[in-house]
Amino acid sequence: MSEVLQAIAKRSSTRGYTQEKLTKEELNILIQAGLQAPTAANRQEIHITVVEGDNPILAELEADKNQGRGLADLPHNFYYEAPVVLFLSGDASFYWSKLDAGIAAENIALAAEGLGLGSLIIGCVKDALYGEKKDYYAKALKFPEGYEYEIAVALGRKAVTKEPHDYSAEKNVTYL
Ligand SMILES: Cc1cc2nc3c(=O)[nH]c(=O)nc-3n(C[C@H](O)[C@H](O)[C@H](O)COP(=O)(O)O)c2cc1C
Repeated sequence: MSEVLQAIAKRSSTRGYTQEKLTKEELNILIQAGLQAPTAANRQEIHITVVEGDNPILAELEADKNQGRGLADLPHNFYYEAPVVLFLSGDASFYWSKLDAGIAAENIALAAEGLGLGSLIIGCVKDALYGEKKDYYAKALKFPEGYEYEIAVALGRKAVTKEPHDYSAEKNVTYL
C-alpha cells in the first residue's frame, strides 16, 4: 500500500499527548501540508495561527467553551494537552473558506500520521470563538483582517492510541 493510503487508513483522532514538543522541522512539515492543500480558485486564503499548548489563550478558550455549554471543568481540555494547536482561519467573505479549511485540516492530520504523530481536528470551540468575544479572539489569535475561525488541529506525540473508525460503504455509497 502506498504511504498516502497507509496514512489515510491508519489515522484516527488522538485524545492524549505526551508533553514533548514537536521539532521545528516537524512543525514546518505540518504547516506546509496545510498550505499545500487545494483551495477554491487557488485562492490560498487559509491562515494558520500556531499556538503552543501552554499559551493562556487556550485556557481562556476552554473556560469560555465550558461556560457557554453550562459545563463544569472537564477532566481534559479541548486539545487534550497537545503541545501545539493550529487555528485555521479563513476569509469570512469567501464562499469556500470553510471547505478549504477542512481540506487543509485533513492534509495536516494525514501529514501528522505520516510523521508518526497524533492529531485531533477540533470544532467544539466554535461557539466560544463566534460568541460575544469573537473580535477579541480574532485579535488575540492574530487572524488577518476580515478572517474568522474555521477549524483547529491539535498535534503532538500520541500518549494514547485508538483504532481507526469503522464505516459502512453499504450505507454511505450509492452507485448509479
Ligand atoms: C469538523 C470536525 C470537528 C471535530 N471536532 C472535534 C472536537 O471538538 N473534539 C473532539 O474530540 N473531536 C472532534 N472531531 C473528531 C471526530 O470526533 C472524529 O474524527 C470522529 O469521531 C471519527 O473518529 P476518528 O477521527 O478517530 O476516525 C472533529 C472532527 C471533525 C471532522
